[in-house]
Amino acid sequence: MDTVVAIDGPAGAGKSTVARLLAERMGYAYVNTGSLYRALALCAQRAGIDPGALSEEFLQKQKLEFKGADLYLNGSLLGDELRAPEVAAGASMVSKQKCVRDYLLPVQRGAAKNCWIVMEGRDIGTVIFPDAKYKFFVTATPEERARRRMKQAGEIPQGAGFERILADIKERDERDSTRAIAPLKPADDAQIIDTTGLSIDDVVGKIVALIQA
Ligand code: DC
Repeated sequence: MDTVVAIDGPAGAGKSTVARLLAERMGYAYVNTGSLYRALALCAQRAGIDPGALSEEFLQKQKLEFKGADLYLNGSLLGDELRAPEVAAGASMVSKQKCVRDYLLPVQRGAAKNCWIVMEGRDIGTVIFPDAKYKFFVTATPEERARRRMKQAGEIPQGAGFERILADIKERDERDSTRAIAPLKPADDAQIIDTTGLSIDDVVGKIVALIQA
C-alpha cells in the first residue's frame, strides 16, 4: 500500500498530534483508529454492557463510519465524550476481543480507500496494513508520557498525581503489548521514532524527511 502512512505506538507518545500534523503537512487524510475502540466502549457503557464481553450480535447492530477524520456512531458525530478516562479504560478492554478486531478491520481498511492517508493506532503496520510503504512506531519513555498526560487535564482522573498516571501508563502498556490478538509492537519493517525530549515539530519534520527521502 503506497498510499498509507502507518503510525503506531503506545498511549501518550504524542502519536495523535504527530499523525494529525503530519497529515496536514503532507495533504493526506487522517484517521485515529483508537477512537473506534473508544466508540465501542462508549456504546457498551450506554447500553450497560461489560466492555470486555461484547457479542457479535451487539457489534452488528452498531454502525461506525468515518467521514474524513470525523467518526459517526449510528449517525451521530462523536467528540469529546471519547476522551473521558472511563471510556479510555473501557476501550482497552474492548480492544482485547477478537470479534471486535474482526468487526473493525473492514472499517479501517475502508477508510483508506481512494485516498492518501495517515492512519494511527497500535496494529496499523502489523495487521491492518502490513503492506504499508511507510511505517513508524512513535514512542517515548513512560515517565515522559506521564508528564505529557499530566498536561491533558480532561483525560486524567480528577486529582490523580504523577505516580498514579505513570502506574496507569505502565499497566496499559503491559495490557496492550501482552494481549494475544494484535498486540502493541513495532512491525519488523517500522522505523522507531523516540520522541523523548523532542518537540512535536522536530518529530513531524523527521518523519516528513523520512517519507520524502
Ligand atoms: O489510542 P487510544 O488511547 O485512543 O486507544 C484506545 C485503546 O484502543 C487503547 O487501549 C489501545 C486500543 N487500540 C488498539 O488496540 N488498536 C488500535 N489500532 C488503536 C487503539
